[in-house]
Amino acid sequence: MADIKTDYLGLSLANPIIITSSRLTATLDGVKRCEDAGAGAVVLKSIFEEQIDFDSAKMLEGADASYHADAYDFFANTSKDYYIDRYLELVEQAKASLSIPVIASVNCIHSGSWIDYAHRFQEVNADALEMNVYIIPSDASKTPEHIEQEYDRLVKEVRSKISIPLALKIGQQFTALANRLRRFEMLGVDALVLFNRFYRTDIDINKELMVPGKVLSVPEESAIPLQWTALSSGELDLDICANSGIFTGEDMIKQLLAGAACVGICSAVMKHGHGVINTMNKDLEQWMDRKGYQSIADFKGKLCQENLEHPDLWERSQYVKAVCGIE
Ligand SMILES: Cc1cc2nc3c(=O)[nH]c(=O)nc-3n(C[C@H](O)[C@H](O)[C@H](O)COP(=O)(O)O)c2cc1C
Repeated sequence: MADIKTDYLGLSLANPIIITSSRLTATLDGVKRCEDAGAGAVVLKSIFEEQIDFDSAKMLEGADASYHADAYDFFANTSKDYYIDRYLELVEQAKASLSIPVIASVNCIHSGSWIDYAHRFQEVNADALEMNVYIIPSDASKTPEHIEQEYDRLVKEVRSKISIPLALKIGQQFTALANRLRRFEMLGVDALVLFNRFYRTDIDINKELMVPGKVLSVPEESAIPLQWTALSSGELDLDICANSGIFTGEDMIKQLLAGAACVGICSAVMKHGHGVINTMNKDLEQWMDRKGYQSIADFKGKLCQENLEHPDLWERSQYVKAVCGIE
């Protein structure tokens, strides 16, 4: 029987499926359920930098206690550490109850005072920290350099505060993505999560109102992480967790062949239930047995760009063939 163990962030995972940060991983019961269903690791629901920086005094500035008395009381009696303390409690409980790795997660946009708290994730024994940098480059006055410097500042500062492994979860919208990924490697990131799926908005044309867009992904979305995993896994000396649109064992095998160490799934579990984890792992085992692979190392990255005779297959040549009908 094939061995589906994998290494990610210096941690040994019994299989390559990580349940990504979401409401599936927001409670102790939730993460236990993921472990029971066979996940290799969990990333806890993110704490937002705004929650860490939460300042009750600021919330009360100019507030009148006679209006919204409940809210006034809540803020007046809530310490600055309210959210972070609760989050750290969850990390501690998850670490005490689970035997699979538990990765804490922070969702951030600035290198502000929240970074002074970064060391607290490791004090409660989180196995690693995943930093989800959620910058939407919508401000036309900000240049690419400006935005990239913000990423660099964030990564450098967090890296200097913690010694546990650091994963960086990013979107794909960079001017020179390959160069950016290398820069993150140079700054000491141990793994890249390719890619985050940013929240989408939509418009209801009957009500003429903005409404939430589709919250869950669709399988077609896995093509972009697949391409960038293949383009970068052979180049970079770090781990890649492929994420977005991964629903089946076949989707997972493709990402491993492209060079991912593991895959992150969320929508698959939300749409099809926790049983999908076991199905995907069984499909991986059966495929490896059919192919005669004993471990993931036997085929991981086999089809990454560096290992291909015609590396441009991951770039332009397939496109030219498809568009011009050249065989
Ligand atoms: C309801 C919901 C909540 C999420 N919350 C977070 C979060 O707090 N932090 C984060 O990094 N990603 C969050 N995500 C993104 C997922 O972790 C994942 O990266 C994304 O859904 C793409 O993976 P998928 O195609 O398997 O769903 C959330 C996704 C969903 C659907």
